[in-house]
Amino acid sequence: MEMGLLNTEGALVARDKVGIQDFVLLDETTETAFMENLKKRFDKDLIYTYIGALVVSVNPYKDLDIYNSNQMDLYMGVNFFELPPHIFALADTVYHAMMLELNNHFILISGESGAGKTEASKKILQYYAVCSPETDLLTSVRDKMLMSNPVLEAFGNAKTLKNDNSSRFGKYMDIQFNSEGEALGGHILNYLLEKSRVVHQNHGERNFHIFYQLVEGGEEDLLHQLGLERDCLYYNYLTQGECAIMSSINDKNDWKTVKNALKVIEVSESDRTDLFGVVASVLHLGNVEFDPDSRGNASLNNNTELRWVSTLLGVNAQTLQEGLTYRKIRAQQDQVLSPFTIDHAIYVRDALAKAMYGRTFTWLVRQINESMENKDDTMKMVIGLLDIYGFEVFYVNSFEQFCINYCNEKLQQLFIQLTLKSEQEEYEAEGIEWEAVQFFNNKIICDLVEERHRGIISILDEECLRPGDATDLTFLERLEEKMGDHPHFVTHRLADITTRKTLDRGDFRLLHYAGEVTYCVVGFLDKNNDLLYKNIKDLMGQSKNSIVREVFGNADADSRRRPETVATQFKSSLLKLTESLLAKDAWYVRCLKSNESKKPGNGETHPVHWVLLGSTGFHWVLLGSTGFCWVLLGVMDEALVRHQVKYLGLMEHLRVRRAGFAYRRRYEVFLQRYKALCPATWPHWLGLPMDGVQVLVQHLGYMPYEYKMGRTKIFIRHPKTLYATEDAFERCKHELATKLQGKYRGYKAKGELKKRKENAFQMDVAWKAAQARKEEERRDWAVKVIKKFINGFINRGDARSADNSEYLAFVRQSYLNRLKLKLPKTVLDKTTWLTAPSVCQEASEMLRKIYYRLMVRKYVRGISQQKRGQLQMKVVTSAIFKGKKDSYPQSITRSFLDTRIGEADINPKVLQMIRNERVKYSVPVVKYDRKGFKPRPRQILLTTSAAYLVEEAKIKQRVLYTSLKGISVSNLTDDIVVLHITCEDAKQKGDLVFQCDHLFEFLTKLSMLANKQNAFQVVKGSITIEIQSGKQGAVDFTTGPEPLVYKDKNGHLMVVSTRVRAR
Ligand SMILES: Nc1ncnc2c1ncn2[C@@H]1O[C@H](COP(=O)(O)OP(=O)(O)OP(=O)(O)O)[C@@H](O)[C@H]1O
Ligand SMILES: [Mg+2]
Repeated sequence: MEMGLLNTEGALVARDKVGIQDFVLLDETTETAFMENLKKRFDKDLIYTYIGALVVSVNPYKDLDIYNSNQMDLYMGVNFFELPPHIFALADTVYHAMMLELNNHFILISGESGAGKTEASKKILQYYAVCSPETDLLTSVRDKMLMSNPVLEAFGNAKTLKNDNSSRFGKYMDIQFNSEGEALGGHILNYLLEKSRVVHQNHGERNFHIFYQLVEGGEEDLLHQLGLERDCLYYNYLTQGECAIMSSINDKNDWKTVKNALKVIEVSESDRTDLFGVVASVLHLGNVEFDPDSRGNASLNNNTELRWVSTLLGVNAQTLQEGLTYRKIRAQQDQVLSPFTIDHAIYVRDALAKAMYGRTFTWLVRQINESMENKDDTMKMVIGLLDIYGFEVFYVNSFEQFCINYCNEKLQQLFIQLTLKSEQEEYEAEGIEWEAVQFFNNKIICDLVEERHRGIISILDEECLRPGDATDLTFLERLEEKMGDHPHFVTHRLADITTRKTLDRGDFRLLHYAGEVTYCVVGFLDKNNDLLYKNIKDLMGQSKNSIVREVFGNADADSRRRPETVATQFKSSLLKLTESLLAKDAWYVRCLKSNESKKPGNGETHPVHWVLLGSTGFHWVLLGSTGFCWVLLGVMDEALVRHQVKYLGLMEHLRVRRAGFAYRRRYEVFLQRYKALCPATWPHWLGLPMDGVQVLVQHLGYMPYEYKMGRTKIFIRHPKTLYATEDAFERCKHELATKLQGKYRGYKAKGELKKRKENAFQMDVAWKAAQARKEEERRDWAVKVIKKFINGFINRGDARSADNSEYLAFVRQSYLNRLKLKLPKTVLDKTTWLTAPSVCQEASEMLRKIYYRLMVRKYVRGISQQKRGQLQMKVVTSAIFKGKKDSYPQSITRSFLDTRIGEADINPKVLQMIRNERVKYSVPVVKYDRKGFKPRPRQILLTTSAAYLVEEAKIKQRVLYTSLKGISVSNLTDDIVVLHITCEDAKQKGDLVFQCDHLFEFLTKLSMLANKQNAFQVVKGSITIEIQSGKQGAVDFTTGPEPLVYKDKNGHLMVVSTRVRAR
């Protein structure tokens, strides 16, 4: 990960900004220093900070204006450390690494629920959508990729206590690129949706967004067709959390977005109808209730809702009713119907709702993949984005939290393996001894959960599969038997007296890497089995709703084989994911949650009481009778953030990253930068770069413990050592510049020079002595080489032979090496190409062409839409003024803005008067009266058909483009414009004379809007103006020592401008 190191110098330059942009450069690696820096930056809305190439992001809970297209342009193709830390910088670096190495990458985004993972992944996706080269294919793929988000979020996200838009499924998305770097398509893998939410929500939480969006936003016709009421409170499945309507969520608007997005991702109209049919049937199903019959068995009391389900799904109502109240048991040849108790019927109803929704979700992901997948089989590279549900702890934690938190353990494990591994490999490769940094390896917890035959998942599966009366509590007993002495596992029975008080009998507690979580075993077996009776499955397989038929039809063809349990499926899918990720290069975003109240930091305090529970750093508060809720702890809740910093292992990462060595650099590069600091290496070092660096650092007084010499790089332990060197370098640069001016001022300077020379001489002597022995040994060898060299030189013009071949190879190599260092920096530089010796003239010419083509390609690729617009305007400006007006050359580098006066600064009355025309551009000007030439400040507004001269709320003059017969300016450097207007009678106002600071911008816009390229005149000396019909005046132009505009004795307006500075 050279990138992370490459630009420490860039970071050095920036070290005076707010805090430090890269934690690696902190002087101390203490948690206090870390937190201080994080907070200092966060308080200034700087939410991103690096640890090397890793991005730490703190959720601001407010929209920051740092993701617009200007920012994207800014970060495009710029070196990682040159600009302030940003998620775009990471996205860009990954893209360029992929293009350079032509291999696959992934970005692991982690952090607890609500920390900002999904937002980060969306920002990255947007960056790629906007910044990869533009093609027709890309435009369509880009829309689909971007639009897959609202759809998946509607169906897979929900409001939880932690996050109003919490991802309740795991998502891994590959963005595919071809070797030109064009985005060709994408592919999504989804992981375990939290299906239980469909039928049950905890207090303060909601079901998946789509239900509320449909009920709140769905059109009257649609609701009527689906048999739905426009009232969330009417549906049992939507009201358990008692917060169906949330002010922070706009279901109505979101509905429109989702409906539109479904079209973009090519879900056909009939599929959309079926999709909403499924969503509505789930709602109806939730309202199906059961009453006891005479024998206490379940019987249906509300046939309306059931009939709606049967209509929407196109299944037989009678069979559906049977399926919800009886079970068919095969007894030898006969089928016996076994009636359900009420609880059992509810269980079966909920199981159907969950299965229908869960399978439809998977269908939707498949649909998205089909629409955005690139089907040709050319070589592709991918950048993967992993955004999975974050670690979470609730008041009651169940099977779902168990799976989610296990997944986070796995990702933490992956992070540990990859970061420690790559760092260690570099030290090994460089032969550097290093002391291992102590860190908590969470493998022990992963094993506790997933180990074959012994882990929690295996024991859960055994209980699910074993015949007999297995229950959630027997599962807990099994766990206690097998895990009894595990340091990360505890239950009520196993705990000591103090801990026991915090545990119920049906609980087990895991000591996760991120904190303790107490799981309630109730429901574990059912949720893991995820059973659906065969008669219901068969019925759904015959549904007239094509989605339902598809998702229930094929999957269960072999229904005799028991399907894998949910936990085991999840475990295998995570294993597959890990394998696929390990084959790619990893990059990281670590998201931190700033406070628990989802509020932007503004220093508010809330009048609530709070208590601290346990040692996990999570704060709970009891709010009257409404239940539990997180508490606001001000701008940045330091305890909360510190806790995350700790468990995410950021401090360890930082320490490992420095592993004692904050900075490393290839010898050549280090020497090249700092050689001027030592007389022995300045101006040229002729030996090996490594030896040169050794001499240099000894001269600089580096102590042995401050640095290590690797095989190809020098490693420097503390940033301050490098700062000192860098400061010395700054000073030295200055001195050298002074010398180059050839002004050795004063005796002292001379004295210093002398001292330097003496030092250099002494150094030289010492160095020669040290080298003498070595040289002795090398002399024989050198004589041979030199002879060969001379021989080669003499015969250099001959055909290739034994005499000259090595010499010629040397010439070629040396030329290429020099060429590498002296390549032209810009496309426009056509002169610096290094002249080639005769042996490689042909190659040089080819290289030159290739290199220019490459630069042109890079340049063109780097031109954004916006820049293109600018260039088009500049072409117009150039056609009119180039070589004609003296101030034109200075204007070239200045960007044209969209307007110089915002709409808010134009008087509303004026806007009202010209409301039928759109204002395209406005600019302040100083207008000169036709009589007397008095200057008056005015605004000029350009619309598509006219230019308006405006004073406050009054339109002083309207110049229709059709009556604009000419535009004159002088050839000098002044900013005076004359608009010549067709003037038919004496009442009409005459030509308009004014001064405009943005002359070229204004005239270019005017020329384009009014299509007047041919009406321009650049005049020398004087412009005649028509004051009113028949009456004439003039504006005279001349140069002088300073710019002036005044009425001359001859009654003309005299404009004096300065000459252009000689260039
Ligand atoms: N960069 C950001 N700028 C502004 N607001 C943000 C940013 N990142 C996150 N937020 C806010 O925080 C909320 C939660 O973020 P997000 O949904 O990305 O969390 P998450 O880490 O994906 O959580 P979960 O694990 O529950 O899915 C967002 O809805 C948004 O309001
Ligand atoms: Mg999320």
